[in-house]
Amino acid sequence: VTVYPDASFASKKVAKRIANLIIAKNEKGEKTILGLATGATPIKVYAELIRLHREEGLSFENVITFNLDEYYPMKPDAAQSYVTFMNENLFDHIDIKKENIHIPDGTLKQENVAAFCLEYEKKISSYGGLDLQVLGIGRTGHIGFNEPGSAPNSGTRLVTLDDLTRRDASHDFGGKENVPVKAITMGIGTIFKAREIILMAWNYKKASIIKKAVEGEISSDVPATYLQLSENVEFVLDEEAAAEL
Ligand code: GLP
Repeated sequence: VTVYPDASFASKKVAKRIANLIIAKNEKGEKTILGLATGATPIKVYAELIRLHREEGLSFENVITFNLDEYYPMKPDAAQSYVTFMNENLFDHIDIKKENIHIPDGTLKQENVAAFCLEYEKKISSYGGLDLQVLGIGRTGHIGFNEPGSAPNSGTRLVTLDDLTRRDASHDFGGKENVPVKAITMGIGTIFKAREIILMAWNYKKASIIKKAVEGEISSDVPATYLQLSENVEFVLDEEAAAEL
């Protein structure tokens, strides 16, 4: 666990680590495979990566990205889609190649979702797995959209969102009734395979779930507790999110 005085400072540190990884991989002539997250938490990390691209020439030409999740159903051009989120907060502002961006497809017919999810896993493996997975945490203790009850070895799949998750998203959708009931998410098992995992949390609103995630009993009731089992995880927190530790 690393605690920084505030989210801006912490976000810059995380962005620098991502940048250093990309630079080190570039020097070896290798691609960097990044697992990315949405939500308010990583926005400042992405803003700093954009600044490093513009002002310090950080290139994303050899970066491949896989996003954790997407609402289902969801049209990519909808305001609330994670495609729109990623484009607005990162991809439109850097030199990443469109074909290197992967986000679960919210437009699939239900009968095609399982095959898509399997393919998503295979694609990640075909690049040699994720070098680094960035995570936020939901107030249910979800990572990605792995809600309470998720199995530790779960793969990419269609899930049902928790009521609290839908309530937390209601502002973006103009009411909970408009929030999709389902989502496609990488599994806990998918996340675990990443060589490095950084879970970030800011704000006092995350303090109680961070206490459970870091110090609580490992249980599917709080999927983020599974992270205690991995040696490659760092919780990066601001003082408010760390207040109950
Ligand atoms: C959503 C995303 C998660 C994210 C969580 C927390 O549910 N699917 O990946 O971690 O929200 O969001 P925020 O960062 O806005 O608190």
